[in-house]
Amino acid sequence: MLATSQTKLCCIIGNPIEHSLSPIMHNAGYNALKADFVFLAFKTAGLKETVKSLCLLNVKGIVVTIPFKKEVLNYVDEQSLDVQAIGAANTIVNENGKLIAFNTDWTGAMQTLKAKTKISGKKVAVLGAGGAARAIVYGLKKENAIVTVCNRTVENGKKLAEEFALEGFVSLSDQKAIKNADIIINTTSVGMFPKKDYSPIPKSFLQPRHLVFDIVYTPKKTKLLKEAQAVGAKVVFGDAMVLATALPQFELFTGQKPPVKIMQEALERALKK
Ligand code: ATR
Repeated sequence: MLATSQTKLCCIIGNPIEHSLSPIMHNAGYNALKADFVFLAFKTAGLKETVKSLCLLNVKGIVVTIPFKKEVLNYVDEQSLDVQAIGAANTIVNENGKLIAFNTDWTGAMQTLKAKTKISGKKVAVLGAGGAARAIVYGLKKENAIVTVCNRTVENGKKLAEEFALEGFVSLSDQKAIKNADIIINTTSVGMFPKKDYSPIPKSFLQPRHLVFDIVYTPKKTKLLKEAQAVGAKVVFGDAMVLATALPQFELFTGQKPPVKIMQEALERALKK
């Protein structure tokens, strides 16, 4: 569908942004439903100015990614209850000039994980303590998992563990704690294009009994997941989560049910390239 003067704008903001497949998924959905929307990606330097400018341009929806999921809360008018509890958002809806923050990361991550394993009572090592980690920890607590945060910066990891009353905090090099987990979830950007030749933890930490979930999806098979498969561990790819987070965003932005299969196929085609 060609853009007109009535076309509504949605976008993703973040830095880096070149890897994002959100535009491909959302635009495929708009085309399929002939919805008069267009979705663009904006590499963002100054978050405050960007949000203000997008608001002036009457943007309808904003997807927020690394590293702005926490900071963006300073520039919205309202937060959903989940966002208030998580302290981070990945979705902003513009309701007649009022910016409302939502979080579809936690539902997307739990849906993806629950499709592969039971979560209740499992020991989970969450790698990272940023905005995505907060959403995932929030979901894991709701599912009664036993969560340990493993992070590079002690202060950030400790803060997250305390705030959510988790099992504890350890460093990313704590072999014993990470080996001891049933599930390992990478929420850091390590392994994501252009850092695709890196893994957040050494291969020697990985065990055949682990289930390893990487929320990074570019590339689909990250170094962490390749190494997990090599030791015989089960893996969960991040692309399932990216689709699961995009579907409710589509509905929040357009008010229409997302064409799931079309958006999934668009994502799969893009990942194959
Ligand atoms: P998001 O909001 O998308 O989660 P973020 O808030 O910037 O992004 O969080 C990124 C996470 O990845 C942080 O936990 C960060 O660790 P620090 O708390 O030490 O900054 C982690 N991270 C980023 N690059 C990393 C690297 N090279 N090694 C280890 N951890 C890294």
